[in-house]
Amino acid sequence: MPPAAAAAPHHIAIVMDGNGRWARQRFLPRLAGHAQGVDSLRRCVRACVARGVGVLTVFAFSSENWNRPQDEVSGLMGLLAKALAREVPELSRDGVCVRFVGEKAGLSGNVRKGLEQAESLTAGNTRLVLNVCFNYGGRWDITQAAARLAARGEPITEASLHAAMGLAHVPDPDLVIRTGGEMRISNFLLWQAAYSEFFFSDRLWPDFDEAALDEAIASFRARERRFGRTSEQVQQQQPAPERQTEPLRA
Ligand code: IPE
Ligand code: IPE
Ligand code: MG
Repeated sequence: MPPAAAAAPHHIAIVMDGNGRWARQRFLPRLAGHAQGVDSLRRCVRACVARGVGVLTVFAFSSENWNRPQDEVSGLMGLLAKALAREVPELSRDGVCVRFVGEKAGLSGNVRKGLEQAESLTAGNTRLVLNVCFNYGGRWDITQAAARLAARGEPITEASLHAAMGLAHVPDPDLVIRTGGEMRISNFLLWQAAYSEFFFSDRLWPDFDEAALDEAIASFRARERRFGRTSEQVQQQQPAPERQTEPLRA
């Protein structure tokens, strides 16, 4: 018996990789690739809204990206501040709720203010939650959650850790996409991707369009998510649940 058609992914997470190579192929500075990456993100957000995706989480700047040349780092910070100012009104009109996920310490006052303004301006929106992971690392997230619980003297359980982490306000990602051809996680959602389906695309992020997104979603829908069970157990559970997340042990 073929597996039951899976539901569309409710939460999609993306490692937006390949901006630098996109620019290099065109003999442009790397920052031109990042600027093009912002355009690609706008297109992707619209496509997710149109497809009824509930949550989109994007990796925009990692804890390790500080190791890049200083001019690229400052260029990326400037690009974020500019993109927020330009895009937030339209995101808000489209019903997008923007959430910043990452370590605020180390970011300039300007960038922090832009992020906080974007969050407060869009806080009431419910169509799509857009989590922007910026100065984010999966190890940082697990560590800060454990440290907060320890400081409060609270017991460390799967559920309490989960609740103290950056993505506590949304269910775990169903589908994690990485563009740019690399097959690694690069310190992205180490905790939350425990049972996510992965899709690796050779497209560079600026070239990742609606058709590429649809290909990733189609691949996801053809998979059987077992969460440790057997295929027979999964198939007996008809109709397939709307959405499944890994059960948390308190
Ligand atoms: C991803 O593109 C964006 C960031 C990490 C900020 P890259 O800049 O890593 O692009 P490549 O991998 O060099 O092509
Ligand atoms: C991952 O891409 C981080 C982001 C997309 C923000 P990198 O290009 O930094 O990853 P590595 O260094 O190739 O693993
Ligand atoms: Mg890269």
